[in-house]
Amino acid sequence: MTARKRQLKLGAVTYGTGGPGSPYLWLDEDIPVDASVNINWYTEQARLAEEAKFDLIFIVDSQFITADSPPHYLNRLEPLTLLSALAVSTSHLGLVATMTTSYNDPFNIARRLASLELISGGRSGWNVVTSGDAGAAGNFSRQEHYDYDTRYARGLEFVQVAQGLWDSYEEDAFPRDRGTRTFLDPSRQHALNHKGEHFQVVGPLNIGRSPQGQPVIFQAGDSEQGRDLGATIGEGIFTHAASIAQGQAFYNDLKGRAAAKGRDPEQIIIMPGVSVYIGDTDSEAREIELDLQTSDRDFGRALAELGRPFAWHDFRQYDLDAPFPQEALVYAERGFRTGAEKIAKLAKDNNFTLRQTVEFISAPKPTPFAGAPATVADQIQEWFEARALDGLNVGVGHPSQWRRFREEVVPILQERGVVRTAYESTTLRGNLGLPVPENRYTKAREQESSLLRI
Ligand SMILES: Cc1cc2nc3c(=O)[nH]c(=O)nc-3n(C[C@H](O)[C@H](O)[C@H](O)COP(=O)(O)O)c2cc1C
Repeated sequence: MTARKRQLKLGAVTYGTGGPGSPYLWLDEDIPVDASVNINWYTEQARLAEEAKFDLIFIVDSQFITADSPPHYLNRLEPLTLLSALAVSTSHLGLVATMTTSYNDPFNIARRLASLELISGGRSGWNVVTSGDAGAAGNFSRQEHYDYDTRYARGLEFVQVAQGLWDSYEEDAFPRDRGTRTFLDPSRQHALNHKGEHFQVVGPLNIGRSPQGQPVIFQAGDSEQGRDLGATIGEGIFTHAASIAQGQAFYNDLKGRAAAKGRDPEQIIIMPGVSVYIGDTDSEAREIELDLQTSDRDFGRALAELGRPFAWHDFRQYDLDAPFPQEALVYAERGFRTGAEKIAKLAKDNNFTLRQTVEFISAPKPTPFAGAPATVADQIQEWFEARALDGLNVGVGHPSQWRRFREEVVPILQERGVVRTAYESTTLRGNLGLPVPENRYTKAREQESSLLRI
């Protein structure tokens, strides 16, 4: 088999009425005010992404809100329910759901994803997260959220159990032979009998293998523990990158960790999330960027939202003109610690007061993917060729920008051969160029019979 040319992968991330950092996105008159719970809106975005030959649509999620949460988080559809609807209105687009390993059980998640696999014909993906919203504990009968070591150890075991359950049936488990009245070949059904530190699961799962074998595993989490989890089980990695150098550092770190674990780094796809700002000229794009960033944010919302990485600690209780309260970091141990540490370090390195920290975070800033369509295409190609990324998750933010990306930037990238012009496959694995995981029992039997032949 000849190796396929390396091409950039494209994901679309939907933030409906506005996610973190853009609480006023919904003021855009081209966005329905109920976008985050409007299935017609999602269906249309998925159709547009598929028309532009995107690899996947990515649905973010969390299980805890406060009145200060961004509009999209306040009122939105549950990812797997939503993706089941999108599965029947699309034919090639990958469908990636964020689901936490901290507040679910492996059997439930394995079963639901296996169902989406069959409904979509092998297009599902799972963004494995451990939850940074510590308050979710209170919605799941726990006093407090797990600490980092526990939540990531539980996350790893969770995924391994789900993968074990997905092997419950081998490819040929169901002869469904009316003549011999044989529905199941019981030698091809396997109980997992998992007994681990966090889960005990007997199995088998009550749903068979899909056209791509198993859902694609994505991972998002940037701490030491998070990167190790990604390097161990991630086939796609969702991340952030502010510069090409930062992107390359993360890329090399993650792929190096995976190689050290005996994995092929080429089979891991690194996809940072980005915002794009496109104008007729580079300078017009910068004006659009400044304008949109200014109108999407304000100080009061940014001050309230600052609490999220710190387990929704309320920073409004502090003197705005006193030094940034570093002591708040203790709350982050059960929150989004990596993000909180970055903010605390920024404040410390610059001797910022709380006000200056919030002002800095919410101030408009030039981003890497802003310019005329050709400039944005150049930037993307440069990052891709410099191996700062393998793909991009483009935010479905302002409809005008989302449209310009699809209609003006994607065609340039297609012409240059950086992205596809036609889908290679009807499965997500097939389009991402990822191998189909072999069923462990089939593999063991084949190995045994080849040994017997020697
Ligand atoms: C790009 C990216 C996207 C993420 N998306 C989600 C999400 O949708 N839901 C969620 O609960 N956590 C999400 N996370 C958070 C991680 O699962 C993790 O809980 C959090 O980042 C704290 O862990 P860390 O310090 O390892 O990053 C995301 C993280 C990153 C980097």
